[in-house]
Amino acid sequence: MQPYLVVVLCIISSSKADINNKYFPESFQFGAAGAAYQIEGGWNEDGKGESIWDHFLHYNNPTSKVIDGTNGDVACDSYHNWQEDVDNLKKLGVKLYRLSISWTRILPDGTPYQVNQEGIDYYVNLFKALKQNGIEPVVTLYHWDLPQHLSDFGGFLNPQLADYFAAYARICFENFGPYVKYWMTINEPTSTCGMGYSMGLYAPGYTLIDGGMYQCAYVTLLAHAKAWHVYNDEFRAQQGGKVALGLVCSAQMPLDPNNPKDQEAAERSHLMGCASFGNPVFVGNWPQVMIDRIAAKSKEANYPFTRLPVFTQEEIDLIKGTSDFLPLNYYSSSLVEYIDELVGFPPNAWFDISVVTSANKSWPQAASPWLTSYPEGLRIILNRLNKDYNPSEFIITENGWSDTGELDDQGRITYIQAHMSAILDSILEDGVNVTGYTVWSLMDSFEWTAGYTEKFGLIKVDFDDPQRTRTWKSSAKYYQNVIATRCLLNQCE
Ligand code: NOJ
Repeated sequence: MQPYLVVVLCIISSSKADINNKYFPESFQFGAAGAAYQIEGGWNEDGKGESIWDHFLHYNNPTSKVIDGTNGDVACDSYHNWQEDVDNLKKLGVKLYRLSISWTRILPDGTPYQVNQEGIDYYVNLFKALKQNGIEPVVTLYHWDLPQHLSDFGGFLNPQLADYFAAYARICFENFGPYVKYWMTINEPTSTCGMGYSMGLYAPGYTLIDGGMYQCAYVTLLAHAKAWHVYNDEFRAQQGGKVALGLVCSAQMPLDPNNPKDQEAAERSHLMGCASFGNPVFVGNWPQVMIDRIAAKSKEANYPFTRLPVFTQEEIDLIKGTSDFLPLNYYSSSLVEYIDELVGFPPNAWFDISVVTSANKSWPQAASPWLTSYPEGLRIILNRLNKDYNPSEFIITENGWSDTGELDDQGRITYIQAHMSAILDSILEDGVNVTGYTVWSLMDSFEWTAGYTEKFGLIKVDFDDPQRTRTWKSSAKYYQNVIATRCLLNQCE
């Protein structure tokens, strides 16, 4: 054999050896995901009210908020093209479609005062079509598009929002419950609280760096819990679905695995990130390290109270146990380095944590600056959450790769193949009950501050074409084959 051929064969077999070549269990459900503001468009049609993202991008200099100055006014125009979306889902062969409801499409000002029947009909038609095609909707009640009217009341800074959210949830359960078995209350609160209420990068754009994020976290947890109790008390017996908070988590690994200081910093980074929402829901209350550190840092900064809202025992009990499954968004992981305590003014969440995180230089880089590929991290975090929270089931509700839109998107194939392989390892070798995977995303869509510059879709959308034509990429064909064969390679053993 020619030496170069040996080398080529070795590369092929070693890269394949990394990918699990076993079959996904028959019960495992493949799916795809998207979210209302990112795909629907129709921002003011048929009675829809204004959301904070509509407001944020209409009343600010657009390029100061979004890199290409765009917005979600039309996006993929799924408000009109939803039947084509369902056709594509069917052709892919998925059994799950994760989507979110636009709060202001069904309650124009967010309050239960006025229900917009046209908005209700839009989702009922969509759910019926999905069900007719054997596709189970996984429905997020809140994927970041708060009614502007409720934001004017303080949004996630005002604890009364929890009651508005529970009332909205009740209307969704009443109208859509017969079609929906998986509900996610709120998507990725770490992102929306941090970016929206501390860093000012997402709507509503507040830069309350000393405590906005914590107050938002507190109100988010109350809102989630109240909605869960509405379902539990009024709908579960009849509808038999599951309700959960959507977490985004990653492996936080010590930069130097042998350095106890880095180990402690990595643990702290996990507890003050992922577990800041996971613990209240699965264990009860914030993680102790979070309570202690924020109290100490507040004191150092002359606050006669802690900047982290203190839960009453009644609130702890209300929130604890309110997750019927664990919807996990996973993209990448971090190496965490211990540093001396950061001090300065005003106090803020970064000083409270006081660690430095980075990606390993060998991890492949996506178009999004924050996204690198480390599939093993998914297995690590699944094991960790399984041990700490022992949920009845996990669904990987987001996982995906951004590029600049190429149709032959080999980078996306490599990423999703490796991550699905890690999931299969978790199921088969670690005994973690992962029951489904909804890849992010079904199609290219509005990527928040990155506008339309970063593409996550299996399906390309032509945003210059008024029809918003959809074209399958190589990754869609690859995924279709995985779904049909339940195997990540062309042929499994
Ligand atoms: C998290 C969000 O839930 C989703 O809206 C976003 O598009 C993806 N991650 C990619 O950034």
